[in-house]
Amino acid sequence: MTSEVPSESAAIKVALLGCGTVGTALLKLLAAQSSRIASQWGVRIEVAAILVSDAATPRPPEVPQHLLTDTPQEVAARPDIDVVVEVMGGTDPARELVLSSLRSGKPLVTANKELLARHGAEVLAAAWAGGVRLYFEAAVAGGIPLIRPLQVSLAGETIHTVMGIVNGTTNYILTQMAEHGVSYEAALAQAQDLGFAERDPTADVEGHDAAAKAAILASIAAGTVVHLDDVYCEGISSLTVTDLESAERLGYAVKLLAIVERKVIGDGEAKGAAREVEEEGNEVRGEKSGAEGDGEGEESGAESDREIMVRVHPALVPKDHPLATVRDAYNAVFVEGSTVGELMFYGPGAGGGPTATAVLGDLIDASLEALDKKSAALSDKPEPHEGALQDEHLRAENLEQAKDGPELQKGEAVQNGEAGRNSEAAAHPQVSILPMSELRTCYYLSVEVIDRPGVLAAVSGVFGKHDVSIRLMEQYELPNNPDDAHLVFLTHTALEKNMQAAIRELQTLEVVRQVNTLIRVIGGE
Ligand code: HSE
Repeated sequence: MTSEVPSESAAIKVALLGCGTVGTALLKLLAAQSSRIASQWGVRIEVAAILVSDAATPRPPEVPQHLLTDTPQEVAARPDIDVVVEVMGGTDPARELVLSSLRSGKPLVTANKELLARHGAEVLAAAWAGGVRLYFEAAVAGGIPLIRPLQVSLAGETIHTVMGIVNGTTNYILTQMAEHGVSYEAALAQAQDLGFAERDPTADVEGHDAAAKAAILASIAAGTVVHLDDVYCEGISSLTVTDLESAERLGYAVKLLAIVERKVIGDGEAKGAAREVEEEGNEVRGEKSGAEGDGEGEESGAESDREIMVRVHPALVPKDHPLATVRDAYNAVFVEGSTVGELMFYGPGAGGGPTATAVLGDLIDASLEALDKKSAALSDKPEPHEGALQDEHLRAENLEQAKDGPELQKGEAVQNGEAGRNSEAAAHPQVSILPMSELRTCYYLSVEVIDRPGVLAAVSGVFGKHDVSIRLMEQYELPNNPDDAHLVFLTHTALEKNMQAAIRELQTLEVVRQVNTLIRVIGGE
């Protein structure tokens, strides 16, 4: 931390791209905090331009009207801008604006999870080319300090699990369903009325928002760039109150989790099926059929460090697990490291104020970086990167590019003018993304069957045939339908592909009315 406070603070000019909920909250926070920031950090942060989609739209009083423009070129062409803050969201036009800002040597702060999850490698290549850093604390879990602790505080740690509730809307809906017995549809309508959920809630309820955050968390945990397409994703829209009540009876809460696991598999078997992110040509995704996965005992520490599984789906969380206690729209991320043990980060994962706090922390850091660059240019020295926060941040530089990958000189990632994923990927280690079919976990399954002799034997026979061992079974009568029964199974640890095969066969049984819900279980054996 800085110990000397310069008597006169230097000015850093900022372009704000986007002025919705987060942008407006940032302007308000900056107005309240800028004097303290100047005296504490020696940098005066001045917003010099604000890019919006329509400059004529009426805005709250904290937005300085004279700084608004709806012409991207007016912002991009200004050489006096030192730092760019992107809070517009989406990939278009954010991607082009972010890339050009970084390439022109402007440190950039973004809250844009989708941009990073879809174009992370390209964005990092642009930062590398421009010799600047990318700051994205606000992109995952809003106001919870998470990215920097993972990148910096835990830089010396082998993180093997990151598991989190990273979507407030779905956590609110599940809390309402579990605690008040309201239907999914009614809980969603409440979330919309309260402003948590969008009118089109697809991104939240189908898990896409959480999957983008999972890709970013996986990138940090594995020291590579994990693409959104590498994340297995299921949402909560097919869950019923009956499932949540069954889970409650069995001692579990149901949560939508983003899960990043390294070294998921305990034997060599899955290596043959692992999907890889490669640097040759475009990243290659697909089933790998090589023979290297055939042998037992191949899983050296180094090999397993190169294998991750990234998934988003509802999960049964034991009630004594810290994540089970996270209610309403709160987020929490549970981290397990090899030496540090278990950690949990908890707080508001969305909302203008909390997210703006994360953006402002990054903005101070980015402004100090810009100040360093200015000082270096004035004294004609190489960039020192000696700012107080920069030192702490250095190891985390650009999603840990330097940590595992080959040394990459500034600009080297961009060849032939194309800062694509191909050139960027050379800076990252090869990491196998394990397919979901190789997951080993316990399962909850609810099935509706005809209630007559021999049905249980038929159903349990299918589980046995596919090497799925039943740990517990409960049978409930169905109100209004005395001929049928509702069965709930908990299994011991099984292989996902075996469980899926069992479900497919169950669906063909004449005695099975329907297979309802499959939910993966956290813990158990
Ligand atoms: N819609 C998200 C949530 C916040 O409900 O948590 C933005 O990522």
